[in-house]
Amino acid sequence: MTITDQIVDLLENHGGDLYFGEQVTEKEHALQAAYFAEKDGAKPELVAAALLHDIGHLLHGLGEDVAEQGIDGKHEDVGAEWLDGHFAPEIVDCVRLHVDSKRYLTATEPGYLEGLSEASLKSLELQGGPFTADEVKAFEAAEPHFQVALQVRRWDDQAKVVGLEVPGVEHYRMLLESLAIQK
Ligand SMILES: [Fe+2]
Repeated sequence: MTITDQIVDLLENHGGDLYFGEQVTEKEHALQAAYFAEKDGAKPELVAAALLHDIGHLLHGLGEDVAEQGIDGKHEDVGAEWLDGHFAPEIVDCVRLHVDSKRYLTATEPGYLEGLSEASLKSLELQGGPFTADEVKAFEAAEPHFQVALQVRRWDDQAKVVGLEVPGVEHYRMLLESLAIQK
């Protein structure tokens, strides 16, 4: 199976669990994030990153209630490692950094924290809470793709709308194929 086939299979057949204490499934959450990216005119790489940002949840099999169990599953690292070598570093970095991007935005943007869902606030604590001023500086210095990662994070935060009609997984097949690194 190609990486694109594997992604389509994961989303179609393993994305049915509710997303992390929210009222949408993992699959709906991924599709909504990609939809909001497309709606904002994002380039294909960022649409793909939005679609794939939580793929680690589908890979590590800890289920949807990891926050309830008090475990930080590090799904961002699981997802990024799985995608590494199959997609450009920009895409992989957006996946890897989507949790740190929340920590960054809660530290730097007034009002951002208040806009997060209850489940997202709960996981924020497990993930280390808002960055300190030093962590903000270190993040900016160490991560060349941090600006685009922050954009992906915003689509992630929006993608929790119950009953929103959006394109399905197949809508993204060609886009994923065009971005996948041929081996
Ligand atoms: Fe997410």
